Amino acid sequence: MVRALCPLLLLLVPPLLQLSAATAEPCEIDDEDVRCVCNFTDPEPDWSSALQCMSALEVEVHGGGRSLQQFEKFADTNPKEYVDLVRALRLRRLTVGAAQIPAPLLVAVLRGLGSSRLSHLTLVDLEVTGTLPVPPLEDLGPKLLTLSLRNVSWATGDAWLAKLQQWLKPGLQKLNIAQAHSLAFRCADLHTFSSLQTLDLSDNPALGERGLTAALCPNKFPTLEKLTLRNAGMETPSGVCAALAAAGVKPQSLDLSHNSLSATTQGAPACTWPSALNSLNLSFAGLEQVPQGLPAELSVLDLSCNRLRRMPRLEELPKVTSLTLDGNPFQEPDASKYQEVPNSGVVPASACSALAMGVSGTVALLRGAGALA
Ligand SMILES: *[C@@H]1O[C@H](CO)[C@@H](O)[C@H](O)[C@H]1NC(C)=O
Ligand SMILES: *[C@@H]1O[C@H](CO)[C@@H](O)[C@H](O)[C@H]1NC(C)=O
Ligand SMILES: *[C@@H]1O[C@H](CO)[C@@H](O)[C@H](O)[C@H]1NC(C)=O
Repeated sequence: MVRALCPLLLLLVPPLLQLSAATAEPCEIDDEDVRCVCNFTDPEPDWSSALQCMSALEVEVHGGGRSLQQFEKFADTNPKEYVDLVRALRLRRLTVGAAQIPAPLLVAVLRGLGSSRLSHLTLVDLEVTGTLPVPPLEDLGPKLLTLSLRNVSWATGDAWLAKLQQWLKPGLQKLNIAQAHSLAFRCADLHTFSSLQTLDLSDNPALGERGLTAALCPNKFPTLEKLTLRNAGMETPSGVCAALAAAGVKPQSLDLSHNSLSATTQGAPACTWPSALNSLNLSFAGLEQVPQGLPAELSVLDLSCNRLRRMPRLEELPKVTSLTLDGNPFQEPDASKYQEVPNSGVVPASACSALAMGVSGTVALLRGAGALA
């Protein structure tokens, strides 16, 4: 029986081999035609494989760290030639990662997508070489809702955001900039982000409160509702308060989790918090005491996963309707016991230490999954 199977298997092997060679194509689209992922790591990739992504809603392109210099000649293409084709694309989300890209090519891609329905653009591990040209008066890039950048370096230096912004149609609602090489924007050149609701500067451990003051250009973020500063080198809530006041930024929600906030209880300079601020996240901040000078009234305060040794007294806490104190030592006299009974309703110590201080959940997850790394 086994012997009879062997020739049969041998007959089957060549087509199987061919099949595996065919599936090693750089781009793959899922069965629902939703997500298409290209990985051009191969030294001589088949670029035409990207054509199958034409019908996808979400496209992810990994350049394998290569330079895209060879495509710079396409930067002169007139986007009008392709306008009907681009209009027909279903593309909503585009991620471009791991490549060296000349600035004229990047803006040509943006311009080319100007008539598309692209709303979410993510750039990861990119080195943008050369300077960003001045945009034309017409044929700008897409009207994005979300722009996310992680570890993107710009030869243009501090002026990059002002220059990039000019290539996009207004309307951006969410801007995420992580592992930035420069956040000291040239405020005079920056246009007002007139629709921006969320600014996320997480995972910039070298930013600090001084850097935050430089990044929050005064009056450029008039509609900001949510400011996220996870793992961003913040030191005290009052220092952040001062930076917000200097910039005239008035968020409703502020996330300071995953910063080593020192628990200065005395001598914290008085600062007036934005009156709209109703949610403050101070979790994973290494706090041994509730810091002084917090906003007097908040709806939500998250103090979970700190080092509070006793239940804070009422007068130490701002007035809140939703307070989270899980994962503090005072709740877990015997932490090891809680680890054995994770369903006790209290966040066990292990859930707090799993995401180490200084590294935010997003980074830990990204590293864990190896995604885009
Ligand atoms: C950042 O991106 C560059 C490519 O531009 C890459 O070489 C480097 O490894 C990335 N750094 C991290 C921490 O991922
Ligand atoms: C506070 O931040 C932590 C960690 O970043 C997150 O897990 C938690 O959900 C946040 N809390 C609130 C109330 O949003
Ligand atoms: C791309 O392919 C290379 C080699 O096959 C692999 O090592 C790498 O993890 C892949 N990258 C992504 C993001 O899938």
